Amino acid sequence: MNDADVVICPAYLIIGIIPAMMGLGTGAVHDYFETVASRYGYDSSHFPWAWLRHQESKALESLLDQIESPCHRALDLGCGQGYYLRKLLIQRAEEVVGLDISPAMLAQIELPNVIARQGDFTSPLCGFSADYKFDLLFCAGALEFAPNPQTVIENVGQLLRPGGHFILLAPRKGLLSLGYQAFHRSHGLPIQVFSQAYLTQVCRRQGLLLKVSRRVTPFNLAFRFLRE
Ligand SMILES: C[S@@+](CC[C@H](N)C(=O)[O-])C[C@H]1O[C@@H](n2cnc3c(N)ncnc32)[C@H](O)[C@@H]1O
Repeated sequence: MNDADVVICPAYLIIGIIPAMMGLGTGAVHDYFETVASRYGYDSSHFPWAWLRHQESKALESLLDQIESPCHRALDLGCGQGYYLRKLLIQRAEEVVGLDISPAMLAQIELPNVIARQGDFTSPLCGFSADYKFDLLFCAGALEFAPNPQTVIENVGQLLRPGGHFILLAPRKGLLSLGYQAFHRSHGLPIQVFSQAYLTQVCRRQGLLLKVSRRVTPFNLAFRFLRE
């Protein structure tokens, strides 16, 4: 997919630009996760979500294991209740920050060593100052909620130090993702799904080189990018 596809694709207009213009972007996402926060932990540890979680977790952990350089500071974008902060990040970085738009999701994080920060990953630099750089950025199951995912990737490019890593889990474009989109559309959230070619290209433009990609399940893809 190239730039032109993104600009003219009617589906992109319907699920991306138009909702963003109507204010259905991060406000609706915030309200949705505030509502589901109290049952999110329970749901994700029961069928069918638990199976998906297990597959995703294995794949993401193996991508993290490939990182050999020291990781001083890590940031989880859309960290939710901190599942990956706990499972994957805390042993690997000295300073771990979890960013999420929903205070109710953040309130469930029970990790004393983590900095839980409320913020919007589509806002400039996610609210961090320009000289605050990370060695590792992580984003699992959250990019699809951004009205304009390119803004998030721009932030990733700016927040990562050269030589840093970006690990991403995102829903894969295809027939099966129609079900996932329909699920979120049923409560008013227009989510996006991605092809590998599109994500690779958008990341490349921000100085993020694809190192590894995996199809985790038929529904989603995991990536490790290196910041040039
Ligand atoms: C499906 S949950 C995944 C949470 C976590 N990454 C996990 O795997 O358990 C998506 C999370 O992304 C957060 N999110 C969505 N849009 C966001 C935005 N624009 N800025 C920050 N967080 C956002 C939501 O509040 C929610 O907690």
